[in-house]
Amino acid sequence: MNNVELVTTLNASQTRAECAVIALTHVSREYPGHGTTVRALDDATFSIVAGEWVAITGPSGSGKSTLVNMLGCLDRPTAGTLKIDGHDVAAMSPTELDRFRADKIGFIFQQFHLIPYLSALENVMLAQYFHSMTDEAEARQALTRVGLGDRASHLPSELSGGEQQRVCIARALINNPPILLADEPTGNLDAANQKIVADLLQDLHRNGNTIVMVTHDPEMAGLAQRRIALSHGKVFCHPVGGPVVTLKR
Ligand SMILES: Nc1ncnc2c1ncn2[C@@H]1O[C@H](COP(=O)(O)OP(=O)(O)O)[C@@H](O)[C@H]1O
Ligand SMILES: [Mg+2]
Repeated sequence: MNNVELVTTLNASQTRAECAVIALTHVSREYPGHGTTVRALDDATFSIVAGEWVAITGPSGSGKSTLVNMLGCLDRPTAGTLKIDGHDVAAMSPTELDRFRADKIGFIFQQFHLIPYLSALENVMLAQYFHSMTDEAEARQALTRVGLGDRASHLPSELSGGEQQRVCIARALINNPPILLADEPTGNLDAANQKIVADLLQDLHRNGNTIVMVTHDPEMAGLAQRRIALSHGKVFCHPVGGPVVTLKR
């Protein structure tokens, strides 16, 4: 599936569940502890449809990382069903899950997680390598798309925080994943770079990318179409806004 092929059409006959790229049904995640069990995510049921931009908010310890780790297929629910792009993640082996993650999710991290001794271009190409095979022209194009065509040979240490985050976004986009998962994407950026990254995310959203973004920043959260707020592991979904979109497969 190519995100460029994403068509935004209002389709009254399809339910949200049918259009969901992410669907949780009574999902919980418990951590067994020293005598007590922590229920970090408590009976979450919601869906996110293709092309939606959702902000996940909540105080520290409310379960945001737990939720995001599951949406990113880095962890699994201890109860309930999580479907990503129609597939039940519980049914997959760890190897299948690795492959699935590489196909379906683009990660944008607060800490960037770029390889320090690889250039911007090589960092993007590494993501291609782990997915299938490298394509330098395509990687350059991805950097150009985030406004860094002239920085391809720079090391992360030679780039500003905002530029590093844009490399991270190029890397997340390179394999055309249906879902972009951003964890505090502007958390480490100054106001000017925050605006650049916010504009870029808005661009991606307009182009049909599905974005799930954890943020503490009310301004960033305000850019999303919908907010999912967490409190003590409980999910509070705010009203759905924007059109339902369907994927051309
Ligand atoms: N690996 C773990 N083992 C035990 N408890 C955990 C673990 N990870 C998180 N928790 C607990 O689960 C709750 C939610 O944590 P987390 O998802 O990290 O929240 P947030 O990202 O919103 O700060 C917290 O009470 C935290 O202490
Ligand atoms: Mg966290």
